Amino acid sequence: MSEKTIINTLSKLAATPSSSSLIRLFDDEPSRLQRLSIQAPGLYADFSKQKVDEKSLNALLAYAEARNLGGFFAAMRAGEVVNPTEHRAAQHMALRAPKGENFTALGTNISETVANERARMRAFADDIRNGKRQGVTGRAIRTLVHIGIGGSDLGPRLLMQALKRYHAPGIDLRFAANLDAADINDALSGCDPEATLVIVVSKSFSTAETLANAQVARAWLVQHLGEDAPTLHMAAVSTNLAATADFGITDDNVFAMHDWVGGRYSLWSSVGLSVMAALKEGAFEDMLAGAAAMDAHALTTPVAQNAPLLSGLIQFWNRNFLHMQSRAIVPYAARLALLPSYLQQLIMESNGKSVRADGTPADLVASPVIFGAEGTNAQHAFFQQLHQGPDPASVDFIGFIADQEHNPGHHHGVLANMLAQSRALMGGSPAPKDAPHKNFTGNRPSTTLLMDALSPFSLGALLAFYEHETVTQAVLCGINPFDQWGVELGKHVALEVLSHLEKNTTQGMDASTAALIKRITHPR
Ligand code: F6P
Repeated sequence: MSEKTIINTLSKLAATPSSSSLIRLFDDEPSRLQRLSIQAPGLYADFSKQKVDEKSLNALLAYAEARNLGGFFAAMRAGEVVNPTEHRAAQHMALRAPKGENFTALGTNISETVANERARMRAFADDIRNGKRQGVTGRAIRTLVHIGIGGSDLGPRLLMQALKRYHAPGIDLRFAANLDAADINDALSGCDPEATLVIVVSKSFSTAETLANAQVARAWLVQHLGEDAPTLHMAAVSTNLAATADFGITDDNVFAMHDWVGGRYSLWSSVGLSVMAALKEGAFEDMLAGAAAMDAHALTTPVAQNAPLLSGLIQFWNRNFLHMQSRAIVPYAARLALLPSYLQQLIMESNGKSVRADGTPADLVASPVIFGAEGTNAQHAFFQQLHQGPDPASVDFIGFIADQEHNPGHHHGVLANMLAQSRALMGGSPAPKDAPHKNFTGNRPSTTLLMDALSPFSLGALLAFYEHETVTQAVLCGINPFDQWGVELGKHVALEVLSHLEKNTTQGMDASTAALIKRITHPR
């Protein structure tokens, strides 16, 4: 069957009554739960509360086949060009592969490079944790300041918050990303310069925010410790080794990134150096192992039983056929509060595109608007709209079986709330007579991801699950999930506006921007 025929079938199926009632689907399909739930490494995925029935699922599977989804994953694993606008491979899986697996990028073997860089990271991180790495006055490094933004910030920040139980004692890791000077000032505030190491993380080493914050940190070190301070108090992670040298960072303190890994897929690389040093020994590697286990599942399991790929198919269905424009990510764990921000970049920077990889206009949509917050807090923020808003969103509920805080009262409450919300969204509740405001239509879809515990392994598996799901949606829509040209125009215009702000001019600006510039440069 051609792609077009399957798309027509999917459109027709989306309009049939059986696709419109979730409760009816459970009644009609006794084996529904079994068919739509998957035990994958690190997580149990329950898609049965999504609005797919046997027919739509079969059509989606046929479409995945027509789009050669398996072939794309095989090409990605083989290090072929899967990012055509930049003529690059996307080898994030190589960064977390177990020893002995061989990876190439555009025909060049990269496994040795990965192993060597990981060994360097481990030695550097251990020296920090064990107090062997010292600053210019001989004091041991105890504080790390991680400077980076986007993919060079969100993952490490998420890991540190999520894995608080695994923090190495005595190491304080702080982050600065924002161009607002308050961010770097807050990060440096109270730090003892003699015991501080600044790690500048930037794949390009040309990102304005990161370079501005790195300059502040450098000046702070020089002011307190003298001109030589950066040699022992600064490190960098980048592909741009010429720029790190120009900045004055000693080669021994520079860790490589590679053009075969995109920023938002790079958590597994030396981008995680600060986290490796600030977590107990082995935790970072356990996280890599969780992701590698999810990779093996994604690469070898038929799509119908493949958790991330099936999830990608369902989200593709929700966005393009059920016309759901947004998707909420709600982890029921206080320490996963940063997960929605991380996934916003992963999903929307990868898939928020209107042109196919071959340059033709995209007629299918690969990304909804992603938003979210941690449960139960989210229930008191945007759940009103999820239950009664006119524009239903699909929800991802993420929960953990283990009571890691040893407080069964709280823990059962958290899980009960999570299960209750997905049930309430599905089942709804009719309005009592004369109280239309109490009507809950129900029939609102969700996915539940249930994990054993919030551990490095399960977190690695969860993040890899979302990576593969993101790539799946891109393949189904024919777009390139590995470039991000959409961020370039804003950067360019920012430079133009900056020059006007500094020179107090407005020539060539539109009337609105010109007036705003004048208000800023001539406050009333
Ligand atoms: O926002 C654009 C972007 O290029 C992201 O893709 C990337 O994660 C971020 O900026 C940071 O880039 P770099 O690591 O090169 O500083």
